[in-house]
Amino acid sequence: MEFFTVQDAAAAGAVGAGFLAAVIRSNPDAVLGVATGGSPLPVYRSLAGYGLEMSRIRCFALDEYVGLPAGHPESYAEVVRREVTGRLGLNPANVFVPDGSAADPERAACDYEAAIAACGGIDIQLLGIGHNGHLAFNEPGSALDSRTRVEVLAERTRQANARYFDSPRDVPERCITQGLGTILEARQLLLVVHGADKAEILHRALTGPVSADCPASVLQRHPHVTVIGDEGAAALMGRATTPGTAAPVAVGAGAAGTGPGR
Ligand code: PGA
Repeated sequence: MEFFTVQDAAAAGAVGAGFLAAVIRSNPDAVLGVATGGSPLPVYRSLAGYGLEMSRIRCFALDEYVGLPAGHPESYAEVVRREVTGRLGLNPANVFVPDGSAADPERAACDYEAAIAACGGIDIQLLGIGHNGHLAFNEPGSALDSRTRVEVLAERTRQANARYFDSPRDVPERCITQGLGTILEARQLLLVVHGADKAEILHRALTGPVSADCPASVLQRHPHVTVIGDEGAAALMGRATTPGTAAPVAVGAGAAGTGPGR
């Protein structure tokens, strides 16, 4: 695992975009895993500035709410359409989000997992981390080898996401999320984290025990992880560097062991 500290969210976006651009340049048929939430937005903004040829690039979103009507502006399908497909000029037919309005969401989750496999897997997966250590919508207690499935959102997650809705009550209670096992199969993971409010959970995830109590700790088990934190988020991580100026700090693997999981 390599860890970079940069000044702020915009810099994290610029550095993150550089990693994605490198993958896209080396493979015009690359499969990207994209994330929603605030953390990846500067990455997409910066990547759009590269003007890369992306007509054959395919994208899979990490997760989606269950129960929002199709076309709801805060559904991740719509967020991805605005922030990723539109901004980067992707072919909409190549961009996939779990179907949270499906009559049978469990089935939709299985179909999504199969669609990722049918594309040959994800080359680089962009990730954020939740305050409770969730990765995608894998809340604490998720099995470290879990697959794409329907999950119940933690109250902390619903509170955090209430900012996108008219009322906290409007935040859906369930979601479809790629599983931790699914995420670990991506060939490269790119975690972007901003803000001092994420410092403690980031430190715990990267240096604490690998456990279902902190789903993002599973990152320690992946052979190719890059973490980009702004100064606030990286505050507890010790000395780290900006890419291009020196080698990044390697973060040691945490103790083995898993908690119970679903
Ligand atoms: P954020 O969310 O990027 O909006 O902070 C990350 C997450 O909850 O996974």
